[in-house]
Amino acid sequence: MQAYSRIYGSGFVTGERKVSNADMAKVCDTSDEWIRERSGIQERFFVNEGTATSDLAVGAAKKALDDAGVKAEEIDYIVVATMTPDYYFPGVGSLVQAKLGLTSIPALDIRQQCSGFVYGLQVADALIRAGQAKKLLFIGAEIHTGFMPFSKQGWDVVMGRSDAEIPQSEKEWNSKFRHLVVLFGDAAGAVVMGPTDDPKRGLLGFALHSEGKNVEALYVPSAGFAYRPYFSDEHFKEGRGVPVMDGRTVFKMAVTKMPEAVHEVCAKAGTTVDDLHLLIPHQANLRISEGVQKALKLPDEKVYNNIQRFGNTTAATIPIAYDECKKAGRIKQGDLVCFVGLGAGFHWGAALMRE
Ligand code: UT7
Repeated sequence: MQAYSRIYGSGFVTGERKVSNADMAKVCDTSDEWIRERSGIQERFFVNEGTATSDLAVGAAKKALDDAGVKAEEIDYIVVATMTPDYYFPGVGSLVQAKLGLTSIPALDIRQQCSGFVYGLQVADALIRAGQAKKLLFIGAEIHTGFMPFSKQGWDVVMGRSDAEIPQSEKEWNSKFRHLVVLFGDAAGAVVMGPTDDPKRGLLGFALHSEGKNVEALYVPSAGFAYRPYFSDEHFKEGRGVPVMDGRTVFKMAVTKMPEAVHEVCAKAGTTVDDLHLLIPHQANLRISEGVQKALKLPDEKVYNNIQRFGNTTAATIPIAYDECKKAGRIKQGDLVCFVGLGAGFHWGAALMRE
């Protein structure tokens, strides 16, 4: 397949506060040992209250624009992937547009959760190939802290503003969600994309899939129009604003479907996994990445992981990892790079790119 779109620059930002596993253990019944062993995560960043997903998205966008040598006014299309928009509606795209000082260019929202970046990349590629965009800004941004069930006092403790012991009853409540809250962080990653005349560079293909039958293994059982009203005090008190996650089911799907998608996208592009220079898996759990690596029989130097430092930042993990690899020289011109992810929906898939 001929390549028509490529990435010209990238950048990322995180929430303001670095939060260790020990900080998390102050508000729920967990430990550094458990979190590291089961997920590989050592720390994550949380935003201060008042910072919204659109703010992180704009921060990442500015860095990507600088990196690409493109001015904000040159951008002709915005695509934002997030499952944690500032408001229930509208999406974040138009807020990012306004905060960048832009007017009337199209701004599109993608909501494919942990596969948001891979899905959005396909949309961005298609828009560019169809001549609908020449300088497209694509951002993956998330703030997960809004899901977390901590009280104001709990937040003061987690964010290092207080040394107080939180009440045992509150710790017990928070611990109901401990398998979830320890995994996530707040961050955004962005790329600037455009057409290329070089047929040897750019996005080579996609292998995307969805399967709705297991929705309840990972979803938010509230704040939706399946309910009347769509959000209620009862839902909040029952903790239904926090995602439900059957971790084992998600884990098993991830280590099965992600390698399949990588093989599929390579085959579609007439290449094989052995030709890959680098695999960037969505960062959900280091053990998932290791399982995917093992299934694909890839050596350590061909798989990039940074979940240890950021936790799972959903739509932001892949652009953050890509930016780190670019800046560290782990991705060079001509390298064959594969992005792969799986998440709520379920949606999963892989994208193949020649840098
Ligand atoms: O991007 C998509 C988003 N989600 C994912 O990708 C999640 C994929 N799944 C996972 O990452 C893992 O399944 C988890 C990290 C969520 C959980 O790891 P696990 O090895 O599957 O643990 P488990 O759920 O089977 O729980 C094992 C034990 C349980 O205790 P008992 O019943 O054996 O006494 C849990 O209650 O670990 C307990 N546990 C915890 N202990 C300390 C669960 N969470 C915690 C915690 N700290 N944070």
